[in-house]
Amino acid sequence: MTQKYRITLLPGDGIGPEIMSVTVEVLKVIGKQCDIQFEFSEALMGGAAIDATGEPLPADTLEMCRNSDAVLLAAIGGYKWDNLPRHQRPETGLLALRSGLGLFANLRPATILPQLVDASTLKPEVVAGVDIMVVRELTGGIYFGKPKGVFATETGEQRGVNTMAYTSAEIDRIGRVAFETARKRRGKLCSVDKANVLEVSQLWRDRIILLSSEYPDVELSHLYVDNAAMQLVRAPKQFDTIVTGNLFGDILSDAAAMLTGSIGMLPSASLGASGPGVFEPVHGSAPDIAGQDKANPLAQALSAAMMLKYGLNELAAAEKIEQAVMQVLDGGYRTGDIMSDFSGTLGMKMLGCRAMGEALIGVLENSNND
Ligand code: IPM
Ligand code: MG
Repeated sequence: MTQKYRITLLPGDGIGPEIMSVTVEVLKVIGKQCDIQFEFSEALMGGAAIDATGEPLPADTLEMCRNSDAVLLAAIGGYKWDNLPRHQRPETGLLALRSGLGLFANLRPATILPQLVDASTLKPEVVAGVDIMVVRELTGGIYFGKPKGVFATETGEQRGVNTMAYTSAEIDRIGRVAFETARKRRGKLCSVDKANVLEVSQLWRDRIILLSSEYPDVELSHLYVDNAAMQLVRAPKQFDTIVTGNLFGDILSDAAAMLTGSIGMLPSASLGASGPGVFEPVHGSAPDIAGQDKANPLAQALSAAMMLKYGLNELAAAEKIEQAVMQVLDGGYRTGDIMSDFSGTLGMKMLGCRAMGEALIGVLENSNND
């Protein structure tokens, strides 16, 4: 029987619409091959929504997301909206989407594909074989803690305030996702905090240690966030799964992403306890190359694979996308961001965004004829 899914598409800003349209074409092919019917509806989000409605996450966009089986997001933001008041910024819309859908768990894999070892700025022997999953808490911590704001002091100065706060329940639920994730991988979990300085981090560490008694098969370690940043670039292969709070996870996931040579390759999944997840590339909207057909659509395609795997439980379809990405890379196809210094001499072919999408569809259609 044909499976049907309602997918909300949020193409957003900058390169967002370009990489989204490639990915939708890929999903249509996958749908035919795997007997899945995708019903796509597009909604406004980010700068595009601000221009059209004055708000970065219009209520009907959130409603449409809530009523779908999964949300595929491309990227939001750009110089044009950087100086608007905070409540009107594209980023505020993204935070509202995460919190509105209760997406407390953000999975950000950083896997070095053998084809791209040379695209990393680090030595091949340091990065070859890296396979890390960052589990970032996404709806708490300093991004959402109160009080927050800029207040006048008694002496007439201004004082900016944000609050890093976690309840034990918030720590436990992300902790469980992380232990479960580690269990399905290589069984190692590193919890990252700043417990040497911050009370909130001490609670984080205490709760993670308490939880670990339920997961005796997972090997737990702890690192302070500064040391974790250093270890990620010094010896990244020591990591399997990392769990950390919202702000530390934001920073460390960018660092982990860059081990792979380009943030343009990395997908992510944001999941709640129930309801639709949001699947989006880790990279931003790259306004500097928007509209030039230069963007790398592979992180968006891989986000669709995460959607199929984590959001819709369509494992075979997810695997098809992952395999197709591997095959186009094996075929020597590269977008500009993943061309290494040696790529030219190794006979790599540089493609634009649309042509990369066509290459993906080409291998998908070929593989189906085998
Ligand atoms: C990310 C981004 C967002 C974040 C911004 C755009 C609000 O950097 O998804 O990592 O800080 O979470
Ligand atoms: Mg970030």
